[in-house]
Amino acid sequence: MFTLPLPSATLKVTAPGRVNLLGEHVDYNDGVVLPAAIDRTVKLAIEPGQGNEVHLVALDLNQEVTFSLLDLEKKVDVTNSPLPAWALYPAGVAWAAKKVGLPVIGFRGVFTSDIPIGAGLSSSAAVEVAFAAGWQAMCAWSIDPVQLARLCQLAENQYVGVNCGLMDQFASVNGVAGHALYFDTRSLAWRAVPLPPHTALVIADSTVRRSLADSNYNDRRAACEEAARLLGEKLPGVKALRDVPPETFREHASLLREPVRTYAQHVVEEIARVERAARCLEQGDAVCFGQLMLEGHASLRDLYQVSIPELDTLVEIAANLPGCYGARLTGAGFGGCTVNLVDEDEVDDFMESLAVDYQEATGHQAEIYLCRASQGARVERLK
Ligand code: GLA
Repeated sequence: MFTLPLPSATLKVTAPGRVNLLGEHVDYNDGVVLPAAIDRTVKLAIEPGQGNEVHLVALDLNQEVTFSLLDLEKKVDVTNSPLPAWALYPAGVAWAAKKVGLPVIGFRGVFTSDIPIGAGLSSSAAVEVAFAAGWQAMCAWSIDPVQLARLCQLAENQYVGVNCGLMDQFASVNGVAGHALYFDTRSLAWRAVPLPPHTALVIADSTVRRSLADSNYNDRRAACEEAARLLGEKLPGVKALRDVPPETFREHASLLREPVRTYAQHVVEEIARVERAARCLEQGDAVCFGQLMLEGHASLRDLYQVSIPELDTLVEIAANLPGCYGARLTGAGFGGCTVNLVDEDEVDDFMESLAVDYQEATGHQAEIYLCRASQGARVERLK
């Protein structure tokens, strides 16, 4: 077992990244999503303290910081220097906890992560969830797992300043081994659905890091809000694009200007696609699920316009390899990874061919790995 270098630690927290199987850019439209937590994780060792200081070591970056829980608003450390970017996540969780009236205490912590950064696998959500689960254990917060995820989202939205939905934090908290999570981001109801038997999830990292992702993300969000508002003026009861079935959308699409109309078409169709996909999963039907993944990718590429040529190339190559049921970009887009559903017997050849063909086509060396749908965040008491 990997031991973090903090012999005095009494708690160890593990929080996974996530891969989204379907339902992209719908969590901020009150839609339904199908992510899975993965076996790439943040690991955090904690020695609870007495006072208000949090001393953290980020092992992978070889950096440390000490900040005070009494001075979170200013985003500075105890010497009044700005917090490094990575420390905004733990500080943000503490800030969010205080905002909703939950207690926090100081501690010493050491953490590491094997979730690639900026690859669309929610490395930042996993960091938030690890610290939130740590404080929950130290301070006996009695909140449910979805509230824990919302606390992390609050930290990301209002402290870090990224306007994300709830999917990533939700998946990191609630992951179930071998299952995808059907999560309704409006009602917050969810259930685990098994992945098709005899299949494997393969992640292919294009190694193109997301650029302009935040501004494009905010731009798409604003377009969705505009679409929902304009449709809502005509159609009573429409509060979000979730409320517009694809047929109704087609009838009223002319109310919207371009490119808002095209973006909104992706959202309404993607939400319907997730419903169909959940049924495929419940029937253990990898072929039908894979088809919907491919349709989802085409929609992100042509309608929502958040793909890049490298991700399209990865999907195209994958779709033509033996044993591949489906492939699509995962996460916000503009770089990062694809997720592939592959027959277990073909998986080794699939990974090899995908790497070789991608390099030939683009000159980039993809990082390709098998991943297992895994359990959500957990806390171990060491002493
Ligand atoms: C990012 C956000 C999520 C979600 C996806 C797109 O991962 O953090 O909330 O919106 O993009 O589906």
